[in-house]
Amino acid sequence: MKRYHVTTFGCQMNEHDSERMKGMLESLGYSEAPRRDQADLILFNTCSIREKADERFIAHLGEAKRLKNEDPTRVVGVGGCWAQSVKEEVFARFPFVDVAFGPGQVHRLAEFLASDSLTAQGFFEFEGFTGHLPAKREREFQGWVQISVGCNCVCSYCIVPSTRGREVSRLAGELVTEVEALAADGVREVTLLGQNVNSYGRDLPRDKRVTFAELLELLDAVDGVERIRYTSPHPKDMREDVIRAHAELPSLCEHIHLPLQSGSSTVLKRMRRTYSRERYLDRVALIREHVPDCALTTDIIVGFPGETERDFEQTLEVAEEVGYDGAFTFLYSPRRGTEAAALPDQVPHEVKVERMERLVELVQRRARERAQRFVGRTLDVLIEGPSRTDPSRLRGRSRHNKVVNFTGLGSPGEIVDVLITGATSQTLAGECSLVATAAC
Ligand code: 5AD
Ligand code: SF4
Repeated sequence: MKRYHVTTFGCQMNEHDSERMKGMLESLGYSEAPRRDQADLILFNTCSIREKADERFIAHLGEAKRLKNEDPTRVVGVGGCWAQSVKEEVFARFPFVDVAFGPGQVHRLAEFLASDSLTAQGFFEFEGFTGHLPAKREREFQGWVQISVGCNCVCSYCIVPSTRGREVSRLAGELVTEVEALAADGVREVTLLGQNVNSYGRDLPRDKRVTFAELLELLDAVDGVERIRYTSPHPKDMREDVIRAHAELPSLCEHIHLPLQSGSSTVLKRMRRTYSRERYLDRVALIREHVPDCALTTDIIVGFPGETERDFEQTLEVAEEVGYDGAFTFLYSPRRGTEAAALPDQVPHEVKVERMERLVELVQRRARERAQRFVGRTLDVLIEGPSRTDPSRLRGRSRHNKVVNFTGLGSPGEIVDVLITGATSQTLAGECSLVATAAC
């Protein structure tokens, strides 16, 4: 039996795509090798969002080259966003790569493996949903559901529209069937994926059009799924019906990841985000009005071209005011072919790093302060496995998407009540609440 090994870089969409790649390979009779050097087929599912992502992947590719030299019958494949962004160039730069394919071409891997010439083939059309392929899930109780692919936004820093193509939504009926099948298979938590989830449905024909809020309602009605999450929404499309859904639908979690990118309206304009600082804060106010306890997380880019000290202070102000439960912060990284890479006034690296330090300190302080609201409360925690720092304890996630490390008994996939006894900026600590949970 042939063996494969997949290394995944990047976002949750890539994790999803890798699960589909694995499912497809297993249906072709391949089995998973625990280590790269034990595989006949070495695959990389790549990301290109920042320069660091490229560099990390290229270091791994060096090992694949060595393994291919040792055994030239090994097949090396490179899929995902980096592959899409360089296309055929990959074969000139890395001649030991046998197959390269973009995110819309995962299904063609099967065709390639069945072909006579297992060398230098590239597949880069925006064609298919990976969501149609069989999946091999990482965790049996959690499932990804790809509701749309591609992105119609033109954010000036972002490479994704060129790597994933224009937005295409899947039909709601198909998504309900998929979620029903996941529930029947033991999945309790579903994460809906799309580059811009809340513009879901706009591209569908009128008679089949379903809005994102309506889709949430349809999926909430599926028996057995206890938690629904989604990522990522765009603030410009964050409508009241979606916000209300968080208050009204029992399975929709109290967590919204709402990427800010910058707190300065002038920078947002140059980023082509199509919302201002005021409009963003207005969305936050609406969320807090309908779902006061909702956890809010965000993405922020530091050092976008032309960002002045005053612009940056405005980002600090928004982060202070909102009080995020967590934030991913990134140094701006120019990406090939994007509008922002050609803008004047690129910010020097040292300035970016210094601003980043100030931002991270503020974000962590606010997250620590916000997390104190959980202390003394009993939260539903979905157990994911043993705690990473202390294997005698368990680790799980609250509906707010907070990692909870706690003492108690239980198996992965169970939802238990945990009394929260402590909180840092990143994690909560607790004990299984004996009163409410039979499992503990
Ligand atoms: N430089 C830095 N960060 C970026 N992101 C996207 N493109 C870039 C870039 N060129 C960040 C954004 C996005 C997250 C997934 O990555 O914050 O929301
Ligand atoms: Fe990376 Fe973006 Fe592609 Fe995800 S969609 S793999 S974050 S470039």
